[in-house]
Amino acid sequence: MAMPARRARGMEALLATYNVVPVTPADYRRLAERRLPRFLFDYIDGGANAEITLAANTAGFRDIVLRQRVMRDVSKIDTSTQLSGMQAAMPVVLAPVGMAGMMARRGETQAVRAANAANIPFTLSTVGICDLAEVKAASSKPFWFQLYMMRDRGVVQDLLARAEAAGCTTLAFTVDLAITGMRHRDLRNGALSASLNARAVKAWEIARHPQWTLDVAMRGRPHGFGNLSDRVPDPGRLEAFTAWVASQFDSSVTWKDIEWLRSIWKGRLIIKGILEADDARAAIAAGADGVIVSNHGGRQLDSVASSISKLPSVVDAIGDRAEVFMDGGVRSGVDVFKALALGAKGVLMGRPWVWALAAQGEAGVRNTLAVMQQELRIAMALSGVNRIADIGRDAIDDTAMRR
Ligand SMILES: Cc1cc2nc3c(=O)[nH]c(=O)nc-3n(C[C@H](O)[C@H](O)[C@H](O)COP(=O)(O)O)c2cc1C
Repeated sequence: MAMPARRARGMEALLATYNVVPVTPADYRRLAERRLPRFLFDYIDGGANAEITLAANTAGFRDIVLRQRVMRDVSKIDTSTQLSGMQAAMPVVLAPVGMAGMMARRGETQAVRAANAANIPFTLSTVGICDLAEVKAASSKPFWFQLYMMRDRGVVQDLLARAEAAGCTTLAFTVDLAITGMRHRDLRNGALSASLNARAVKAWEIARHPQWTLDVAMRGRPHGFGNLSDRVPDPGRLEAFTAWVASQFDSSVTWKDIEWLRSIWKGRLIIKGILEADDARAAIAAGADGVIVSNHGGRQLDSVASSISKLPSVVDAIGDRAEVFMDGGVRSGVDVFKALALGAKGVLMGRPWVWALAAQGEAGVRNTLAVMQQELRIAMALSGVNRIADIGRDAIDDTAMRR
């Protein structure tokens, strides 16, 4: 028997409100917003200053027009590819995200399991909550490690030795955080402050989110920066973290340090945070195997160009010698397709996996990856290509009007 129209509309509204079946990163973002204390949600969601670059990253993808091709026998679509020397089911990597373990219980272990299931690489941040050994124990496959340069090179050497012992074969060395960007939301939320006021606001936010409090705050301990727990004083508090970053991250780093890194790291080395062709050339000259075209998800220098708009010039500069990845604003399998068409070997995505993790843990990340892969498959089929290697510049329509 058909449902009366009013009841059906009510049901639709209910489903929309509660996102019973989340599909896109935007769906998971809404769920994450409900589940997380404000200061944590904004830490993930926000960008630097006026968030111009944050918005440009996604807008940049919207502005790319694809060509529809027909009658090309697309019955054998294969999204698999090689990423940094390893076979992957699709050209997508989970980007390093600091403190992911504050968004879901032992978050990095849940995410690495989802990445394993999807057969794509996971990247553990230097400032993850779970440490290298815990992630290794949860993972059935090698994962990537992300490094920030610290003043104390002994700490760096120790981290790299642990990464190697954990079976990491690829190191993503982040170079766009010489100083932490100005993130207004964090300041407004008192996320970086230990003042009485800020503590009261945070306590209130925590009290308003009992699910998160039970699952993460209480059952998800410890909350230190796993890899650095013996180094960071008072770990587990955002303000302590930021103060520590300011005091320990080394802003004097130059390409010479990459040469030093190259001499002690035997695995693959990828430089993360390149936007300019000259910097990409310098990275390769210093011994890197690849670069990630990235503006740190719009969290560092506001008003730099979107990553996707800078990708082609970096590909032109080094694409024949090195792997070029990109991140920033990837929100669908169609975006993955566009990045590949512009020459990327693969993409990393940050916020989408963390929103999904916050909303539904491992299952959320798995679903996000499954949807992305299906969207990529469809984009390939309707553009007339069967293999990742066949996705090229000709997939993009430079002549069409955007709207
Ligand atoms: C909450 C958050 C934390 C991040 N932490 C790190 C980090 O620890 N190391 C790093 O290299 N990049 C970090 N990034 C940047 C991501 O690796 C990636 O470059 C960015 O999120 C890509 O943009 P997207 O979020 O639009 O996908 C972080 C990004 C976010 C959103």
